[in-house]
Amino acid sequence: MDNKNWVLITGSAHRLGREIALAFAKAGWNILCHYRTSKDSAQRTQQEVQAAGAACLLVEVDLAQGDAAERLMDQCVQLAGQPPQCIVNNASIFEPDDAPSATAEGLQRHFQVNTATPLLLANALYNRVRQGLDVAHGTHCVIHVLDQKVHNLNPDYFSYTVSKLALERSVALQAQALAPTVRVCGLSPGLLYLSGPQTQDNFDKASLVNLMQKPIDPADVAQGALFLAQNTSINGCTLRTDNGQHLIPLSRDVMWAIEEGAH
Ligand SMILES: NC(=O)c1ccc[n+]([C@@H]2O[C@H](COP(=O)([O-])OP(=O)(O)OC[C@H]3O[C@@H](n4cnc5c(N)ncnc54)[C@H](OP(=O)(O)O)[C@@H]3O)[C@@H](O)[C@H]2O)c1
Repeated sequence: MDNKNWVLITGSAHRLGREIALAFAKAGWNILCHYRTSKDSAQRTQQEVQAAGAACLLVEVDLAQGDAAERLMDQCVQLAGQPPQCIVNNASIFEPDDAPSATAEGLQRHFQVNTATPLLLANALYNRVRQGLDVAHGTHCVIHVLDQKVHNLNPDYFSYTVSKLALERSVALQAQALAPTVRVCGLSPGLLYLSGPQTQDNFDKASLVNLMQKPIDPADVAQGALFLAQNTSINGCTLRTDNGQHLIPLSRDVMWAIEEGAH
């Protein structure tokens, strides 16, 4: 294996995770491409990463399990021969509910996948790096992928929003706790892809609801992740890659605002 840096990107079989994998690969990183169910897409991402000149190893773990972070870190160390220099916590679930309809089961599932496992993965990296010798300060980094929603609140997608809010509030706390061994940053994209019950027509309209009045380019979001990973002076803060969507307040999720003609 060559001596390039390794990045673990959770949920990188397709969509934003794949985009981040390609951005890191083109910048000279090797990729640990994590997936759960999308094995075929993960293999396609692997081929694209390899075509960009980087190594790409696939790792399958269900992040809803309580021991997922440790198992994933163990597998990464086994595969790459070292802990990754960077983890991008990109995988998430995004299921529609609202405050009155939220259930204990839905809240707990969102919290496990979107909050607890990403935080525990950061701890797992911290513990592994601490076991090593002579690690230069700032070279290891965790990026929690958030959502512009956490800076622009409305009560739709309630369990998802609560899980991402908890993760966003944890960025500074974890940065303080894990310094100087591991840097911790957040990345907040705006609307990127059609999800859940959204129609293509609704998505096309919703993707213009931002200050730039144009769709957000996922490749730009991926460049944001790469910037945070490579700039060792940045710690404990969140980068918003959303064409300024967080500065357009809406009383409902943009999908419903479009549906109701409220925007
Ligand atoms: N899409 C948007 O417009 C948007 C907007 C703002 C923020 N974001 C944030 O950006 C990130 C990426 O968004 P996306 O839409 O590209 O993500 P996505 O396609 O909804 O999900 C990414 C991956 O997460 C994985 N995943 C879900 N549950 C899992 C579990 N229990 N164990 C392991 N993996 C699991 C899935 O892997 P498998 O397919 O292999 O099962 C899935 O492919 C997310 O954190 C999201 O919150 C997205």
